Amino acid sequence: MGVRIKGLGFYVPGKRLTNFDLEKMVDTSDEWIRTRTGIQERRIASNDEATSDLAYQAAVQALQRAQVKPEELDMIIVTTATPDYLFPATACIVQSKLNAQNAACFDVEAACPGFIYGLEIARGFLELPRYRKVLVIGAETLSRLVDWEDRNTCVLFGDGAGAAVLEKDNTDHGIISSYLKGNGALGQLLILPAGGSRRPATQDTVQQREHYIKMQGREVFKYAVTGMQEAALKTLERAHIKPEDITWLVPHQANIRIIEATRERLGIPEHKVYVNIAKYGNTSAASIPIALTEMVEEGKIKEGDLVLLVSFGAGFIYGGMLIKW
Ligand code: COA
Repeated sequence: MGVRIKGLGFYVPGKRLTNFDLEKMVDTSDEWIRTRTGIQERRIASNDEATSDLAYQAAVQALQRAQVKPEELDMIIVTTATPDYLFPATACIVQSKLNAQNAACFDVEAACPGFIYGLEIARGFLELPRYRKVLVIGAETLSRLVDWEDRNTCVLFGDGAGAAVLEKDNTDHGIISSYLKGNGALGQLLILPAGGSRRPATQDTVQQREHYIKMQGREVFKYAVTGMQEAALKTLERAHIKPEDITWLVPHQANIRIIEATRERLGIPEHKVYVNIAKYGNTSAASIPIALTEMVEEGKIKEGDLVLLVSFGAGFIYGGMLIKW
């Protein structure tokens, strides 16, 4: 018995923040951002939108396309680094908005690879007889955690959500293999220092701007490339598939140069790699489900395609997943 994605959806806020807008906010240029990251614009949630609002919109679309009613859901998993609250879980808020009264619900904090982690957790549950339909959502409002005075980070991130409905499947389609890994020793290189139990909010943490993302970009870049490569190769090895045999590589959209370096190391031609970073920037856990939804909408992914997902993020954690569509 396998596990298959039955429907996908995504939602991004209407407000676009372009590189030219950022030129007016910090000492940067459209040229620098485009050539160093591949990003041209990103979406920003409105003041009355939180992560659960984005997640809900993506979920509604995914459920419609899967032809699944909210009350049929056995579980809702929201993967996010930007929950509405520390508790209750964002998944509980989404459950209430959907009126999915039969669903268990919890959040997973696995940074950018969160969606891959969420799919793997859903797969584990769906292998048990009791669970039949699971909704996995990657959703972020990173604009709330970005220091809009720090040009090293504020140009990189965007808001959005993507969702997938997963079901048991008795064909040979669906999730084939996966590889999840962590390296917690390097956690300080990409961190939100305050607001948790280590550094609760005080006047001092606010003054020191410790409630914003801190990142050693150059270091993160190096580990991202080696982590994505390892995750891709191990995932393929576990399925006895060679890189040249995959139809699509769908990488986490953090930086076009990370994607390009990973692609080159794997020896995968450019036309097999899906890239949408120019439109959305880095939407963390939402990046892969947004990409997958667009690919399906554009008719790029076809039945039987071998699709390799790969991601890297704060932790550090990284992972890959191979799906036969
Ligand atoms: N505009 C203009 N100049 C900028 C800038 C910006 N937005 N941000 C940084 N710079 C400057 C730096 O201050 C530095 O100037 P200096 O040489 O005078 O000190 C110069 O550009 C080069 O900085 P550097 O950090 O070496 O640039 P880079 O080529 O490594 O690119 C990142 C920076 C952040 C784009 C890149 O390191 C990166 O993408 N890292 C990974 C980040 C990531 O993906 N994080 C999430 C992981 S999921």
